[in-house]
Amino acid sequence: MVVNIFNLDRDHQDIKERLIECMRDVLSGGDFILGRHVREFEEAFAAYIGVKYAVGVNSGTDALKIGGLSLGLKAGDKVVTTPNTYISTAMGLSIHGIEPVFCDIELDTYNMDPHVLDEVLKKEKGVKLCIPVHLYGHPCRMDEIQEICKKHGVLIMEDACQAHGALYKEKRVGGLGDVGAFSFYPTKNLGCYGDGGIITTNSHEIYEKAVMLRAYGQTSKHVHAIEGFNSRLDEIQAAMLKIKLEKLDYWNKRRRHIAWLYKRELEDTPVILPMEAPWAYHVYHLYVVRVKERDELMAYLREKGVTTLIHYPTPIHLQGVYSRLGYKQGAFPNSEEAARQIISLPIFPSMKEDEVIYVARCIREFYGMQV
Ligand SMILES: Cc1ncc(COP(=O)(O)O)c(C=O)c1O
Repeated sequence: MVVNIFNLDRDHQDIKERLIECMRDVLSGGDFILGRHVREFEEAFAAYIGVKYAVGVNSGTDALKIGGLSLGLKAGDKVVTTPNTYISTAMGLSIHGIEPVFCDIELDTYNMDPHVLDEVLKKEKGVKLCIPVHLYGHPCRMDEIQEICKKHGVLIMEDACQAHGALYKEKRVGGLGDVGAFSFYPTKNLGCYGDGGIITTNSHEIYEKAVMLRAYGQTSKHVHAIEGFNSRLDEIQAAMLKIKLEKLDYWNKRRRHIAWLYKRELEDTPVILPMEAPWAYHVYHLYVVRVKERDELMAYLREKGVTTLIHYPTPIHLQGVYSRLGYKQGAFPNSEEAARQIISLPIFPSMKEDEVIYVARCIREFYGMQV
């Protein structure tokens, strides 16, 4: 059997005709930039997350960049985030001279450890913004993070790029901080057919700033109040995202079912499975397990036709781009241990029960366990 890590074509089979139809609609409508579809999708997404405003931009990286700049950050300020994330959590702002400082993770949720955050903020001067990352689809401990950030006068921008629809204590992530940033990279829980992203906020001021920043700093056509970017969500992407948003809750339920099956099949193995905190609704963007013999298991699964990946092999404090910050190996033991041991197993909404069981059986075989 061949089991890929994602299968977008199969996931979208039942809405393919609607997607093609809406593409035709956009093509013949002749409106390709910031038209009706972007507006309608922004409204629908804001309502889904439970915030007042959403601003479509051209990637998750730009959502983080424009989100941070809309909050008033400027060169010389610092942000605190975790090292076990995709590089753009830090790079979206560091390219504008807003440097990251890092905070280690908890090894159970793989997310920011609030106790460590408090220590970091006591030590570091100039941190204006905290970026908790709801990694793999599991929400961060937002109450603790909010309390600590409030104490230190630090704003919050949630990196929700992997957590569309995840709940923290019954509330959707992306609506819990000052700003939320989402990616619509094709493989995300809600993905488009190219690049896309969105900023969420309850603040009218931040909303207006983000709207200006995404389109050359303009307040109206040919009137430019500040310097900005060209970073817009395309009409064609917004039109398709509108259709896909209707399916998001169902797809997330499917992901949760697959995670439940993996748990049932692998609970008695040496594999460390992902946890779901009692206050969390995990949306399993990725199904990440931890094993000591990572390379051998990945090679074994490859031989058996199962694709796996590592998210992410190098914690970002050890990436060449941030060598200037002076962090050394050993600075963040939990993030580094995770990076050595994690494997992302296949998970996607249309994954079939026998595919999950096949992957689990291959893992049991690897450990010489009864299948
Ligand atoms: C946690 C996280 N942050 C930021 C991003 C950046 O999003 P994009 O690829 O849309 O720029 C991603 C997606 O790859 C991500 O997973």
